[in-house]
Amino acid sequence: MKECTCFGRSAHGCSVVSHGCSVVSHRCSVVHACSAILPIFANGIIHNSLTLHLTKLSLINFKNYAQQDVEFSARINCIMGSNGSGKTNLLDAIHYLSFCKSFFNPVDGQNILHDAPFMVIQGIYDAEGAEEKIYCGLKRNQKKQFKRNQLEYARLSDHIGLFPLVMVSPSDVDLIMEGSDCRRRFIDSVICQFNKKYLDTLVYYNKILFQRNATLRGFSERGVFDRDALEVWDVQMVDSGEKIHGWRKSFISDFIPTFKRHYEYISGAKETVDILYDSQLNEAGFGMKLKEAVEKDRAFQYSTVGIHRDDLTFNIGNYPIKKFGSQGQQKSFLLALKLAEFDFISNIKGLPPLLLLDDIFDKLDETRVKRLMELVSSEKFGQIFITDTHPDRIAGMFQQDAPEVKRFKVENGNIN
Ligand SMILES: Nc1ncnc2c1ncn2[C@@H]1O[C@H](COP(=O)(O)OP(=O)(O)OP(=O)(O)O)[C@@H](O)[C@H]1O
Ligand SMILES: [Mg+2]
Repeated sequence: MKECTCFGRSAHGCSVVSHGCSVVSHRCSVVHACSAILPIFANGIIHNSLTLHLTKLSLINFKNYAQQDVEFSARINCIMGSNGSGKTNLLDAIHYLSFCKSFFNPVDGQNILHDAPFMVIQGIYDAEGAEEKIYCGLKRNQKKQFKRNQLEYARLSDHIGLFPLVMVSPSDVDLIMEGSDCRRRFIDSVICQFNKKYLDTLVYYNKILFQRNATLRGFSERGVFDRDALEVWDVQMVDSGEKIHGWRKSFISDFIPTFKRHYEYISGAKETVDILYDSQLNEAGFGMKLKEAVEKDRAFQYSTVGIHRDDLTFNIGNYPIKKFGSQGQQKSFLLALKLAEFDFISNIKGLPPLLLLDDIFDKLDETRVKRLMELVSSEKFGQIFITDTHPDRIAGMFQQDAPEVKRFKVENGNIN
């Protein structure tokens, strides 16, 4: 009998017999392939209807919060306050506890309250009835400390994925408006959460790509060309690139139906939307594409084909949503993307991620807002945090005396 390493139970050391059993039923077709590599569900066991929620958050010197303790509802938390009061910062602190970093500012030191010497973010979670304490501490110009139940992580990547979370933010609009790297990052960030080999393969691919590009530049500087030297990189790039392409392709084909279903629901089936996976590797094998592109690569001095050029096309009624979608349609599209991400992670982990909805009401009409709120109030969602600048609007959405709804008023870095 081995000790179960699944959530909550591992922290308390009780042993569970269920090892060697096959993966239990799941709605998502990718679950079976990837469940075995999730740290939280090591041994290939997935538990349906697990629960996870943040019960208490303590902040010291985090952004505009000098000192703050908050106790949350296990279900719906409404965070209200005027512009600049600290609503998004509160969500960002929760994001830190799941991803060991800010959703917005990658420079950790800049998240410390101005002129303060350090910051601390602490969260107490209820994971299947077991208490989990997460600590993140940072002194200016020092290394960040990250602990789970008093034990410091050797590698922060061991923590990511254990406390699943999906953030919906106004900055998601970059996915539509900005370059292809944003959309690749989105795909990568979702796949990384369930396929541990993905990140290593991607890092390896990028390393080889960097070397291949340096070789091409070197040829140009020295006025030479050595096809054999280039092919050394090609072999390694093909292997890792084709793996990434296969993983992305299968993820996207699983993801699209869920995404479409969410859009249809939010919009009341008013419009049709689609996502297309654009990859040069859809057309032919990577090795062949690299051979065909040699002269072009020589002229451009960088690699013009590969999965580093992959993109997603976002369409509404067969036209690009970037150019032809209204602001509300774009917002609905992004919400559907994030809700599909939520479903995906939820199915894979066997528990609903925390859902952070920052400023979602802007640009959405009343019907869409109502549908969205009905959706997130449904059973399959777990703990939710919603921010709004209008106290009346958010209050009106849920029954005043509903015990699972908690309201917070934020004023200048203070929560009541
Ligand atoms: N490191 C920091 N130290 C002190 N204050 C900070 C720091 N980083 C950000 N702030 C401040 O935190 C305040 C609150 O920001 P936040 O984004 O949480 O506001 P908000 O309530 O979400 O507002 P909005 O309704 O406009 O979205 C801002 O005034 C911002 O300048
Ligand atoms: Mg905000």
